[in-house]
Amino acid sequence: MRFFLFKKSSIFILIYSQLSFVSCESIQSFLESKNKSIDKEISFPQIQGSLQKRDRYELIGREFMIATDHPLASQAGVEVWKQGGNVVDVFAAASFAISVLRPQSTGLFGGGFAILYLPKKGKWAYDFRERSPKKGTPNYYTNPDGTPNTDKILKGAFSVGVPGNVQGILKIQKQHGKLSLVEVMAPAMRYAKNGFAVYADLANAITKVWPNMNPEMQKVFGIDSRPIREGELLIQNDLFETLQRITENEEKEWTDGETTKRVSLYYQNFDGFITEEDWKEYQVKQTEPFVSDLWGYQMMTMPPPSSGVHLVTMMQLVAEMAKRKSFPKGLVGESIQITEAMRVAYRDRSVFGGDPRFTEVPVSKLTSQSYIQDEVSEIEKKVVSGNWKTIPKTNEPKDSYNTTHISVMDKDGNAVSSTQSINGIFGAVQMVPGTGLVLNNTMDDFSIAPGVPNLYGLVGSKANAIAPGKTPLSSMSPTILTETNGATKLVIGAPGGSQIPTSIFNVLYHYLVQKRNLYESVSFPRIHHQFLPDTLFLDPELKGYFPETELPFYQVQYGRHRAKVFVVSKEGDKLIGVSDPKGEGVPLGF
Ligand code: DON
Repeated sequence: MRFFLFKKSSIFILIYSQLSFVSCESIQSFLESKNKSIDKEISFPQIQGSLQKRDRYELIGREFMIATDHPLASQAGVEVWKQGGNVVDVFAAASFAISVLRPQSTGLFGGGFAILYLPKKGKWAYDFRERSPKKGTPNYYTNPDGTPNTDKILKGAFSVGVPGNVQGILKIQKQHGKLSLVEVMAPAMRYAKNGFAVYADLANAITKVWPNMNPEMQKVFGIDSRPIREGELLIQNDLFETLQRITENEEKEWTDGETTKRVSLYYQNFDGFITEEDWKEYQVKQTEPFVSDLWGYQMMTMPPPSSGVHLVTMMQLVAEMAKRKSFPKGLVGESIQITEAMRVAYRDRSVFGGDPRFTEVPVSKLTSQSYIQDEVSEIEKKVVSGNWKTIPKTNEPKDSYNTTHISVMDKDGNAVSSTQSINGIFGAVQMVPGTGLVLNNTMDDFSIAPGVPNLYGLVGSKANAIAPGKTPLSSMSPTILTETNGATKLVIGAPGGSQIPTSIFNVLYHYLVQKRNLYESVSFPRIHHQFLPDTLFLDPELKGYFPETELPFYQVQYGRHRAKVFVVSKEGDKLIGVSDPKGEGVPLGF
């Protein structure tokens, strides 16, 4: 199986030609010699200060709960709920609001995914992610000497995909919401018009990208020609007017309206990269969630081009490893199992991940029992023999804290899980004059060439090559879990680029397998491996726990885990909401 996978993709031949052996004893005997069968009950350290923050980041209610990354976005949800809206209205209100409140993370010129579960009506998966414009081809991003132009795909007017957030939110709200569009958009419009206080994360993001902003963008995010500071008021008048035009013209504003005209005008200076045709052809994709039985629950997650399926593989591998006696136990042993599961899942992602309308993603195979057993047997051989190979460091993910997630659930189990993004910090760092719209840089989520890493250090294959109309592969994996009888259990998702699937995994593992409480599960230090770079990323608090000498078989790197998890869980008649204590948001509800 493994041989087949490597043969299939040239990038792996390339990578494996660089393999080096790390001389190390068998993990099993290593653990035995050090008597490392550590008791499960020994707890990891919490992220520093997180327990003191619990009052702010956790809330328990009974009727309705929303968790987002800004208090006013959660407040927008509460506002429309109190007006008689349902969870879908809440999702729409919070989505428009967060686009105003976190312009460094998401916005109307971004895209996203949503999973809806309305127990009495059904379940849906919506893909309203960016698509490559017609002009988007690999050649468009190739230098005259044949090398890939990684700058062009990462920043500026050519790094932009045709956005889907507005079309997606409008379609979902129209299909399943109860309130009028004006009602659900009212909080966002207020925040844009009246302004809100700039918070630390936003102020830092503005300062960081300030020199790269176009003049239009500096006008909005600056005062007296300098970056706006924490505590100052951010008013977005043009964005308010764009929102107002959407309430008047609805989808038309986004296919053939004043906004699309202004975008075309902007692109006159940039090779007409996004055209009127691109807007007209944009389609929101409505499908079924990808459903699996896992860890005693039924999990519905986003199908490709999301990475939900790789999250499922990861969870299945760990469940299978737990059944086999040969694997080392205890926390160090479990961490090895988890790391190996992540390594396999991200390898699969880099080989097969892509838009299913353009490439075959073998979802059933990657989650089949026989595949899981074969892969676990391969891992088992490696762990028991100690024949350990690591790949020298190649690509480092660059820091990027953005994207956003919204989790909503009500007492009847109606639930929405949605992740939305403009990709990197402030996306393309360009604003379309007269619109308040910050352009995404989501073209970088394509694989510009096999083996060439993107912003998150991720590599891909031909499956994720650029093509007109194609959707780039995404790590965003909004997920909902139900009991086997269909009762909603948990709504979860995260921003964090490549760390999205592993952060969801970490939290579910602590909550469902280790039976820790929800807040602890979210605030626990996390572990992450993404196949390439061949590095085990650990939150700094784990330094004392895993001195490097205890993990000689990995290249370990300590650093703050990027992803922020937003989750709502049902325990009896209680709804528990947690917004990640690394972020600015809060859960709200009652
Ligand atoms: O879809 C993706 O995989 C990326 N555009 C997500 C970016 C992200 O989460 C950035 N967060 N740190």
